[in-house]
Amino acid sequence: MNKLEALAKILDPKEILEPKRKGNGALKKLLDKRLDELTVSSPSLDTPEILWGPERYGLDQSKIYQALSEEHKSMYLVRMSELNLALSAFIETSGHNYGAKMILLSETLEEKSTYALFASDEAVHLREFQNFMNFEYSLKTHHHPMLTPLAEVIKDGSKISLVFVIQVLLEGFGMGHYHGLRQTCLHKPLQDSYDQILKDEARHHGTGIILAKEELPTKQDQEQIFEYTRAFVLAMQSAHWLFETFDFVGESLSQSQRKQLWLELNFEKILATRLEKLKDMLQKVDSFNLLDRLEQDGVFKVQVD
Ligand SMILES: [Fe+2]
Ligand SMILES: [Fe+2]
Repeated sequence: MNKLEALAKILDPKEILEPKRKGNGALKKLLDKRLDELTVSSPSLDTPEILWGPERYGLDQSKIYQALSEEHKSMYLVRMSELNLALSAFIETSGHNYGAKMILLSETLEEKSTYALFASDEAVHLREFQNFMNFEYSLKTHHHPMLTPLAEVIKDGSKISLVFVIQVLLEGFGMGHYHGLRQTCLHKPLQDSYDQILKDEARHHGTGIILAKEELPTKQDQEQIFEYTRAFVLAMQSAHWLFETFDFVGESLSQSQRKQLWLELNFEKILATRLEKLKDMLQKVDSFNLLDRLEQDGVFKVQVD
């Protein structure tokens, strides 16, 4: 059995995203102390529950949102703030196992050290986010469709596929996403954390581009990169938090209200912009007609609700 197959056997998608959390204890104290030295934020019970306003999502332009009671508007924005932070926390958590797998698959000391530092960065990022999360979160309560292909690619992906899909595509996309969240965030300490995190993510993405350009993936790897990229793009398109959050606050939308909200938010344009960003990312490293194939497959066609 080669290394890759052996790793796929022991990696568990659930554990990649949601390892068991242990309460107090000596290790926790030590870890808290060390992370406190490395983070720019500190845990605080005073963090506002609403970290992004309606403008972040275009809801200020929506009659359907404006018609909610003040209480429901507030519940809506709290829920969206939680979803944003929880998604980041799951992604940073998965980065621990990503780093570990890449260390084990690397053959040179330079690569192993690079990925050891990556994993350390992700542990710091996770803590930055957790410092603002005064709520419980789990895959059951705060799921995002992108998390399923994320855990699968970390479990099964070959080294070069992981570089393409995680470092080039996801971290590149994540940078734009974090930047947008930073710009629209209402809480200065969280903005400071984003600034710090963004510097690291730029390095992770940049390293990915260098590594991706160094090597032409084999036919088999090209196939894997195609399949995972496809899965990610489709998952991203199927995420409809802004719609589901109406259900969450107990104001489920009818089919015609859904349509109206779609138009009010200009959701088709939002999706199209996201897809363009993904294409730009892939363009940087596409030496084997990946974009053409995805395009022919219809992956980049906006899926209208
Ligand atoms: Fe990170
Ligand atoms: Fe990263």
